[in-house]
Amino acid sequence: MLAGHLDEPLLLARDAAGALRCLSNVCTHRGNILVVGACRAEQIRCGYHSRRFDLAGRMTFMPGFDEARDFPGPSDHLPRVAFADFAGHAFASLAPAAAFEAFIADVRARLAWWPFDALRHDAARDRDFEVAAHWALYVENYLEGLHIPFLHPALNQVLDMERYGYHLGRYGSLQLAQARDGDEAFEPPSGSLDHGRRVAAYYWWVFPNLMLNFYPWGLSLNHVQPLAADRTRISFRACVLDADRLGRGAGAALDQVEIEDEAAVESVQRGLRSRLYDSGRYSPSHERGVHHFHRLLCEFMAEPPSAA
Ligand code: FES
Ligand SMILES: [Fe+2]
Repeated sequence: MLAGHLDEPLLLARDAAGALRCLSNVCTHRGNILVVGACRAEQIRCGYHSRRFDLAGRMTFMPGFDEARDFPGPSDHLPRVAFADFAGHAFASLAPAAAFEAFIADVRARLAWWPFDALRHDAARDRDFEVAAHWALYVENYLEGLHIPFLHPALNQVLDMERYGYHLGRYGSLQLAQARDGDEAFEPPSGSLDHGRRVAAYYWWVFPNLMLNFYPWGLSLNHVQPLAADRTRISFRACVLDADRLGRGAGAALDQVEIEDEAAVESVQRGLRSRLYDSGRYSPSHERGVHHFHRLLCEFMAEPPSAA
């Protein structure tokens, strides 16, 4: 989705047993692009000199190489890219800093009771927004609830800000928003960590640019994509679990909340140009998530992660 940022030809292949793999889409012979569109096939055949690969990426056939020694060797097979499938979305990394599970384990553990397999993507609810601001400013704004009473009057009506909680993990953080009495909420089952709480929303951020917002109606996934130093696209993807609960509580009026956030983020983008501003301190009660994000940015910028 990061068009122009990650310009790497990759393909997804599902074999007869159902295993899904992410492979290089470049032929290991002279570098021809292998697959140009979605198709059903039992093997991958290069259109240039007919090298063939099975759906796990192993080279199986090549004309003209009978006299080649030690052929095929490891470099003749298609490189495989780290890949994971979560909540109906595909995640791949060319140079993973850690296994995908390290990014998502907290979500899985806390929401072990959530019926992920029942989620259905509802394309009619998808939205793409463009903001005239750096992507990290958009993320910063997401990571604190301090502004909710001031920026989001309607959302503030349904959340109990006295019990708004922050939970930091290694590569992400959770904002746990509890509902005011009588408002729309999850009731997590007994045995789960949040049993007894009336949870209006789980606002989960996964470093660096993914937000998983769980509401009683389902999941709103937000993908933050840098377009330029001062331009960002945010894609909202809606996966519905219970359509009867749409339009209620913290998960209602998401477009309105987005517009309110965008105005603040664009204003900050302009404010940061000031010669008189450098950086501000963090609220101990509400901006630990922002601080955590800034620390992760420093960690990754200081020492780019090596391939695992
Ligand atoms: S480039 Fe693919 S077989 Fe030659
Ligand atoms: Fe906000």
